[in-house]
Amino acid sequence: MKDNKLILGIETSCDETAAAIVNDKREILSNLVLSQLKEHEEFGGVVPEIAARSHLENLNTLIRAAMKDANLSFDGLDGVAATCGPGLIGGVIVGLMTAKSICLVHDKPLLAVNHLEAHALTPRLTGGISFPYLVLLVSGGHTQLLLAHGVGKYERIGTTIDDALGEAFDKTAKLLGLGFPGGPAVEQAAKTGNGKRFKFPRPLSGRKELHFSFSGLKTALRYAAQEIQPLSDSDVADLCASFQEAVVDVITDRVGRALETYGGDKNLPLVVAGGVAANQRLRQAITQCAAAHNSELIMPPPELCTDNGAMIAWAGAERLALGLSDPLDFGPKARWPLDPDAVRAPGAGVKA
Ligand code: KG4
Ligand code: ZN
Repeated sequence: MKDNKLILGIETSCDETAAAIVNDKREILSNLVLSQLKEHEEFGGVVPEIAARSHLENLNTLIRAAMKDANLSFDGLDGVAATCGPGLIGGVIVGLMTAKSICLVHDKPLLAVNHLEAHALTPRLTGGISFPYLVLLVSGGHTQLLLAHGVGKYERIGTTIDDALGEAFDKTAKLLGLGFPGGPAVEQAAKTGNGKRFKFPRPLSGRKELHFSFSGLKTALRYAAQEIQPLSDSDVADLCASFQEAVVDVITDRVGRALETYGGDKNLPLVVAGGVAANQRLRQAITQCAAAHNSELIMPPPELCTDNGAMIAWAGAERLALGLSDPLDFGPKARWPLDPDAVRAPGAGVKA
């Protein structure tokens, strides 16, 4: 009997092709991420068709390299995990079909992973935290507050009613000509800016319901930018810094209220996950917010906040440890909410 289980994780739901090997002792044996940034750059955003074709071209080579890095053959695996949604369906199909082929040929269990759950479980890989905990999930497609009760058991207590936070960063960057992806570019520009120069709104701050809204903030930034055309580098830096401060205020207000509402005297641990959790200013503000609420904080290192294969492999390892696996006819899902019973937030679109 092997003393640890080895899982291959495959991620292809957006514009990163990723493959990793993780064991159930929380060790990452290999973790390779191939960004498609250059392929989408000229379009100012991810083009689904290009993404799917690029995954198809690169995934097999990447998996082989990840296996080699971990000094492993397919026979040595205990399971193959793949993102089955939510995400761009063409890419999801590429990853899922590849995982199914490996499972079929080598007689391994398939672990169908929800990409959002993989983000939410990453702190159990990096920090070994136990359930229950509060999750702030901030990515390119989602902005949610979740109570994580167990693997597969999430209660969505807040969501964005319009743009996701990563999307707001990306749109801000596009508007200011900072390129794609916007998050890191806005963060970089903000470093030299004055965050107090522009008085941007803090949408939904102070509200009892734990929802978010970012489209008004983006519009306020657009008007402010239009008024001071042409923009100098320092104008751009001030706009980015003021935008980031508004974001930080909104997020800490919402997270603080969630900890007060659901933490009680139990001091609910707080986990921050998803690509925007790589933002250093946000990490710093959330660290203060968690400390003020006596809440243990776990934030994965930035490279495990943005999309990667290790988080998918780990989510697979968590499922396997519970005796769960999935049939080979498991279908890809463009939408796959973590809490299917969540009541739609007032005024929210379908993505919420
Ligand atoms: O989790 P992720 O890699 O992919 C999705 O599942 O969506 O998140 C990508 C998002 C993008 O919108 C990107 O601009 C944002 O995360 N992001 C950041 C930073 N790094 C990535 N946003 C703000 N600051 C960053 N440093
Ligand atoms: Zn993601």
